[in-house]
Amino acid sequence: MNTTRKPLIIANWKMYNTVHESSLLVHRLSEKVPVQRTVEVVLCPSMLALQSISLQINHRQFKLGAQNCYWRDEGAFTGEVSASQLRGVVNYVIVGHSERRNIFGDRERDIRAKVQAVVRNQMIPVLCVGETAQQRVDHETKHVIHEQIISGLANLTSEEVAKVVIAYEPVWAIGNGDSAKPTEVEPVVELIHSQIKALYGKKAAESVRILYGGSVNDKNAELYLSVERIDGLLVGSASLSSPVFANIVTLAHNKHKGIIE
Ligand code: PGA
Repeated sequence: MNTTRKPLIIANWKMYNTVHESSLLVHRLSEKVPVQRTVEVVLCPSMLALQSISLQINHRQFKLGAQNCYWRDEGAFTGEVSASQLRGVVNYVIVGHSERRNIFGDRERDIRAKVQAVVRNQMIPVLCVGETAQQRVDHETKHVIHEQIISGLANLTSEEVAKVVIAYEPVWAIGNGDSAKPTEVEPVVELIHSQIKALYGKKAAESVRILYGGSVNDKNAELYLSVERIDGLLVGSASLSSPVFANIVTLAHNKHKGIIE
């Protein structure tokens, strides 16, 4: 972790919690997560809970993110929520999560259009990239990440890329407790950094925030936060537990402040 970029810890609640349960979780989190400016904490509940949580939270303590969006601003697209509808409610939108890619068939071109829609509507995309277990076995990790980054960020300017968040989430490490080793993650985040530098310049590469995601918990979070080019974490199942998630935020805070080496 580097001290020039603000650490970012994102909670992806996926399709868990009713509106009422989400509100209770926010309540518990608000008691445990310190209100401070050193770490940015983003909650991504279901679409349904966004509005009520937006009214409930202290916006200095938490920011909000959506887990997905549609790329058209409006129209006859039954069941979809557009980036323009999310504008004003959330600051971040997760785009290209592996569950979107693999279960719902989001293609590279959809992901690219969604990233653009989020930027166009003045929010920050959290572009998820990552290789599958098979691609890893076939030594295709570098190639896959390279292609996902090129495609996902295509058509953005260097200034726009500078504000983007990229989450490296190896698909094989998501949701199963089988987290990637920091030594496996480090070369990939370095690759992402150097690719951004080559495509969009040094300034964009220095500003862009790169997260790790995949079976993060309060036992392993510190290991990832110790990696030089990792600026934060995208946390799935562990974010559903208020003590565990609050511990992760505290670790990021202490790390950033140099309280722990
Ligand atoms: P996990 O999920 O922490 O449960 O592995 C991470 C994610 O899918 O973003």
